[in-house]
Amino acid sequence: MTQRPYVLLSVAMSVDGCIDDATGDRLILSNEADLDRVDEVRAGSDAILVGAGTIRRDNPALLVRSKVRRNRRIAGGLPPSPARVTLTVSGDLDASARFFTAGEGDRLVYVPAGERDRVTGRIGGVAGVEVIGVGGAPGDPPGGPEDRVGLPAVLADLAARGVRRLMVEGGGGVLAEFLAEGLADELDLVVAPLFVGDPEKCKQASDLLLEEHGIYIQPINYPTVAKGTERLRITPSPYHEDGLIDQLAEALLQVWEQLGLPLKEKSLAAE
Ligand SMILES: NC(=O)c1ccc[n+]([C@@H]2O[C@H](COP(=O)([O-])OP(=O)(O)OC[C@H]3O[C@@H](n4cnc5c(N)ncnc54)[C@H](OP(=O)(O)O)[C@@H]3O)[C@@H](O)[C@H]2O)c1
Repeated sequence: MTQRPYVLLSVAMSVDGCIDDATGDRLILSNEADLDRVDEVRAGSDAILVGAGTIRRDNPALLVRSKVRRNRRIAGGLPPSPARVTLTVSGDLDASARFFTAGEGDRLVYVPAGERDRVTGRIGGVAGVEVIGVGGAPGDPPGGPEDRVGLPAVLADLAARGVRRLMVEGGGGVLAEFLAEGLADELDLVVAPLFVGDPEKCKQASDLLLEEHGIYIQPINYPTVAKGTERLRITPSPYHEDGLIDQLAEALLQVWEQLGLPLKEKSLAAE
């Protein structure tokens, strides 16, 4: 049996199952107490892995924040923070991302073997960064399994480098792969008391009502209302007689179905 590290998946999600929202800003799902808990888990790990998507979207440093914990690691003969690990096929990573530039320690980038030279040319020059080719070969046809990095091969390589405990901090794609392949030993799931909603669908609903039904209803999104409480503002007047109200109800029903929005008796967003 191939040796592999103990794998702990760490994720925070909202009550409606989102790990991020559709805005440009990073969605904060942790409070200070949870960040401190995550810091303790980081400090107890030999390596932290995130997908390239998380580096592009969140630009995380993935370092141990507490000085006490960093000193504890140093006293135990370890680097102040665990090694940082990512996976990519595209190599679409910015060498100035905090993953590469913040703190010290090893940064390991796993790519399909056929992509190694190309990705090394892009980010391999940064001190402490090693691009590791896994499986596949230059010239392999695209679309095959060798197009991706095999997680068992990554885990075996990490084990050979002395990683006994690996923390996987996202994002959704990578977490799903570890779960689907049965390679997770522990799942730390934090559910934040927050409802994300969907600002993009709110805008789409408004657009569809105008384009397909000739009805203008204003979408109200953040920052006018809090994130997770996006809504359509319906402004009835004495001129809106029964026929128009029926027409609106029918149009709303069609748009709701088109966008796959839930039809609930009472919307959380209306609270
Ligand atoms: N709430 C939380 O706890 C939490 C934590 C972390 C992240 N997030 C959120 O998660 C989102 C990012 O998730 P995501 O699913 O888009 O991205 P992701 O899982 O971070 O990364 C996916 C990318 O990683 C690379 N990759 C994954 N598996 C691979 C494999 N087997 N072989 C080679 N490359 C592989 C590919 O990169 P290339 O495209 O470069 O080929 C792929 O596009 C962000 O919105 C972030 O905010 C939430």
